[in-house]
Amino acid sequence: MTAENQGTWDSTTQTFHGGQDWKFCDNFVEDFSVTTNGLGTPEKAMAAAVAACSKINHYPPSDFEPALTDLAEFLWPEGGAKESKELLLLGNGASELIDLVIRQAEPGKWRPGPQRTQYKEYARSAQAAGFSTTDAADRSAMLLCMVNPTNPTGDYWPVDQAKKYIEETCARGTTVIVDESMQPWLGPRWREDSLIRERAWARALSEDAGIHVWVMTSWTKIWSCTGVRLGSVVAPTRALRDAVKAKQVPWSVNTMALDFLSAACADADYLARTWDVTPRWNAETRADLAAAHPRWTVHGAPFLSWLWIDTGDAATCAAAVARAKAAGVPVRSGAPGYNLPTFFRAAVRPAETRRVLLAALAPLAHK
Ligand SMILES: Cc1ncc(COP(=O)(O)O)c(C=O)c1O
Repeated sequence: MTAENQGTWDSTTQTFHGGQDWKFCDNFVEDFSVTTNGLGTPEKAMAAAVAACSKINHYPPSDFEPALTDLAEFLWPEGGAKESKELLLLGNGASELIDLVIRQAEPGKWRPGPQRTQYKEYARSAQAAGFSTTDAADRSAMLLCMVNPTNPTGDYWPVDQAKKYIEETCARGTTVIVDESMQPWLGPRWREDSLIRERAWARALSEDAGIHVWVMTSWTKIWSCTGVRLGSVVAPTRALRDAVKAKQVPWSVNTMALDFLSAACADADYLARTWDVTPRWNAETRADLAAAHPRWTVHGAPFLSWLWIDTGDAATCAAAVARAKAAGVPVRSGAPGYNLPTFFRAAVRPAETRRVLLAALAPLAHK
């Protein structure tokens, strides 16, 4: 085991992610290494998943219904859910769909978005599918994978900026994945600033300009259900949706995840509470860090469920990561995967558990 692979990741074949340390902490308090919702899992959805265990002697529905329709109505409440549902695919986590969409793109070069770094699973999937990695500015790449809002940097582009970037930097034939897993945190109007809504634009871009934009969402963050595995993708056209669907194994979303999804989509109160508490906890954490660690720089949009913290010094950062883990409040180091060893990512959490993290970091106050 190395400090960096948490004893669980096979670094020769897998990408490092947070979220593994908690099980090895005897004194575990809270997982600050992931970007999940600080409210915890929505209770009604959890109850639905537990109840669904009684159905495990049956196959899940092969059409993922009624969960697929429930998600379509959640995504397009203003109308058009019936038509747009024909573009929607559910997956065993966004991870399954990231891999599937990438595998149907024309092999060649892939490029990330222009942010300083981004979620690394796109690199792994692209390399596994035979793509070589090129610079964000290389417009000859036929695959562009962007993350907006960007995990871990916390950068956020409004929808018009994302559309402009795609229109201006993609050549004909490019497959584009925009990962909007963190978009629902924006607030009650999150859909208005999302590419999920931009159906006419995406279809025209695909049919007229040959630029195929897929909108990816992991639902395991906003609904804090990383164990259940739940993601979706919206295809630019029905034909492309079908091309990917034809490559998907049957029943990849299990019965517990499907029932969880239906219940979560119906839980408007949980999202209202999320939009109320997350920006407050985010601002409080920033204020606490600014007071205790004035030399550290905190990055990220104020509505997000995590902070991206630059300590300015790799040794200080390694000490912060070690101290947090020892106190039962693990954070995500920026070293493995992102290769940014002065940074760590910390989830936004309520005062009771945040206090434990701040106490663990306190001895580093003048570093
Ligand atoms: C931006 C982003 N996309 C996708 C994923 C993968 O999500 P899932 O758990 O649904 O496979 C993550 C997980 O950390 C993520 O941060």
